[in-house]
Amino acid sequence: MIYENKQIIVIVTGGIAAYKAAYFVRELVKQGAVVRVVMTSSAQQFITPFTFEVLTQQSVMTDMFHPIKTGSVQHIEWAQWADLIFVVPATANLIAKMAQGIADDAALTIILASQAQKVVAPAMNDQMWENPATQRNIQQLHHDNILVIMPTTGFLAEGYEGKGRLPEPVDILAQTEIRLLAQNGALKNQRVLITAGGTREALDPVRFLTNRSSGKMGYALAQAAAEAGASVQLITTINRNVAYSVKTIMVESTQEMYDQVMSHVPDSDIFISAAAVADYRPAQKADQKIKKTDDNNMTINLVKNPDILAEVGRHKRQQYVVGFAAETQDLLAYADAKLKTKGADMLVANDVSRSDIGFSSDDNQVVVLTASHEPQYLPVQSKLDTARAIIQLIAKEYN
Ligand SMILES: Cc1cc2nc3c(=O)[nH]c(=O)nc-3n(C[C@H](O)[C@H](O)[C@H](O)COP(=O)(O)O)c2cc1C
Repeated sequence: MIYENKQIIVIVTGGIAAYKAAYFVRELVKQGAVVRVVMTSSAQQFITPFTFEVLTQQSVMTDMFHPIKTGSVQHIEWAQWADLIFVVPATANLIAKMAQGIADDAALTIILASQAQKVVAPAMNDQMWENPATQRNIQQLHHDNILVIMPTTGFLAEGYEGKGRLPEPVDILAQTEIRLLAQNGALKNQRVLITAGGTREALDPVRFLTNRSSGKMGYALAQAAAEAGASVQLITTINRNVAYSVKTIMVESTQEMYDQVMSHVPDSDIFISAAAVADYRPAQKADQKIKKTDDNNMTINLVKNPDILAEVGRHKRQQYVVGFAAETQDLLAYADAKLKTKGADMLVANDVSRSDIGFSSDDNQVVVLTASHEPQYLPVQSKLDTARAIIQLIAKEYN
């Protein structure tokens, strides 16, 4: 949680999404931030300062010109106090003025006077958003190192679908968190390819063989790699909420996953094989649903699948290759053998026979093996924290 104990100014401007700023501020307070709110005069047409005063337990700044009581100029004191400044929602008007460095009210003066990182979440009518003037101003904000949280497409206040909608408050915070962490991340500018989920091997058009993998660990690794600044390509059998900036490709079978991995691995620096791939698949996929017969027994012939990790290990050039070993017995012995036979640089082993840390659980405990180190035991922790620890170890080894 990067917002805990942070001093944060939220600037609310005069768009219809101003009511969502109340949810946004409440979420920041919930995440442990100390929040002060500044409102433009247009914003006060949409929502009252009192709402924010109650939510933040702080006074709200609505203008610059009032008697000096505390021995300091209040808007300058606020500008210096802030660790982070959000503009949620940001009107086209405020964005245009920000791009020009105009400071004709309290909000804009604080923005200009503060060295804190600024995050702008535009929300407006789709025509206003697409107007070349707005797009030019957004480019200027990118250029000035201001984070812009892009509006989403959805139902606009005008009563139709269009681009210009404010993302949900939790999404604004999650996206900002990843982008701020990534700025100084240990894998900045690296390209990471990750596989996730259990593969599905079709028997007929409606049935398949699979395993208990939930894909949670692969998705956690994708998020942790993105937080570390990497550009991340995830190849997955399971569709989950994905961290900002992670690109995903959906596949079903091991063969499909193999084909995608092989086409993306040449453009990767690090490959993490976190998917639970099937060693075998049915020799034939029936064209029609297989019918029940009078026989009490049925035999399914299986043939071997390609070994994705071993193939990458064999053909790797500059890539750092990380495998996972999910075992139910003799964890270290199997993992050590896998490290050597698959040509991996790192092997992450976990005991999936335990229900508290296994496939579907939210927690994990792993042992990390490399050729040059003694096994490193990580504590029981959430899959995301486990993923962050693994990514840090990879970064240390790779760099
Ligand atoms: C009902 C209504 C809704 C508005 N919604 C938006 C909006 O979503 N986005 C926007 O950029 N401007 C919107 N505007 C226009 C702004 O309120 C106007 O440009 C104002 O000058 C912005 O002032 P500010 O940037 O100082 O807050 C809206 C105006 C009205 C009357």
